[in-house]
Amino acid sequence: MPLNINGQTKLVGLIGYPVEHSLSPAMHNSAFTALGLNWCYVPLPVPPERVGEAIAGLRALGFVGANVTVPHKEAVMAYLDHVTPEAQAIGAVNTIVVREGRSIGYNTDWHGFLTALNEGGFDPHGKRAVVLGAGGAARAVVYALAQAEAQVTVLNRTPARARALVQDFSPLFPSSSLLSLPLALQTLEEQTAEAHLLVNTTPVGLWPEVDQSIWPEDLTFPSHLAVFDLVYNPRQTKLLQQARAAGAKAIGGLGMLVHQGAAAFELWTGEKAPVEMMYEAASLGIRN
Ligand code: ATR
Repeated sequence: MPLNINGQTKLVGLIGYPVEHSLSPAMHNSAFTALGLNWCYVPLPVPPERVGEAIAGLRALGFVGANVTVPHKEAVMAYLDHVTPEAQAIGAVNTIVVREGRSIGYNTDWHGFLTALNEGGFDPHGKRAVVLGAGGAARAVVYALAQAEAQVTVLNRTPARARALVQDFSPLFPSSSLLSLPLALQTLEEQTAEAHLLVNTTPVGLWPEVDQSIWPEDLTFPSHLAVFDLVYNPRQTKLLQQARAAGAKAIGGLGMLVHQGAAAFELWTGEKAPVEMMYEAASLGIRN
């Protein structure tokens, strides 16, 4: 943490509810310190009914920006002066920049996902992907996969939610290259047989439920299938272990956290983010 908070210190914060277990304060404060920036990142717990006041408060208090996390990524959009077309398309803002008194909403999650996927050694360009889940995280992933010109099938426990996602995103895909199906053993088996990439956007496997996996125990994991699990705590989820045991490429979600943060850092500061330092700081807060 920066030790010398003074009249020149620039403030950024994390708007969410709850926020006390977030790794972002440690990650960003380490990055500020590494670059010798007199900046400070503070957790800002905001209950749902006070999101509008919180955004007005950012401006009133002279914050230069913020991150936004669960459950406010959609709700903040109504209170910002401008939302980028990317964030509009995804339907969520995870980064706010306050510039000359105006609040601008960005989404860096999708970029964080693509960067982490590439860093993990998988280039999704033109590939077939199966996305598990149809919530906010899935929307950033599907947007990213559209940018990579991948073909996508969304499998979700609640089929109507997956259908709604597909309806929203189909303008970004060539016809019939974005589909939705119910999440079931048969659809999982059939869809992954033809796919190159499986992305888990559900919270299944998240600590403390570390013995859970969205991949059924009695279904052989295909060795040709690369896996990206957005869950990063624990670092080695059960799903990643199943993939590795089958000899498949397995990429954990920590890289997405770090790279969405790095992109936000660069929007706020205009400086190149110290990604290695951010990995180190975030790693301290997770289980292996
Ligand atoms: P986020 O913003 O992190 O994506 P979310 O909007 O709550 O969170 O979405 C979570 C997703 O994980 C949803 O698609 C949810 O499925 P439903 O739409 O059926 O609720 C999915 N999910 C959560 N727990 C799950 C479980 N145990 N098995 C399968 N899917 C699950």
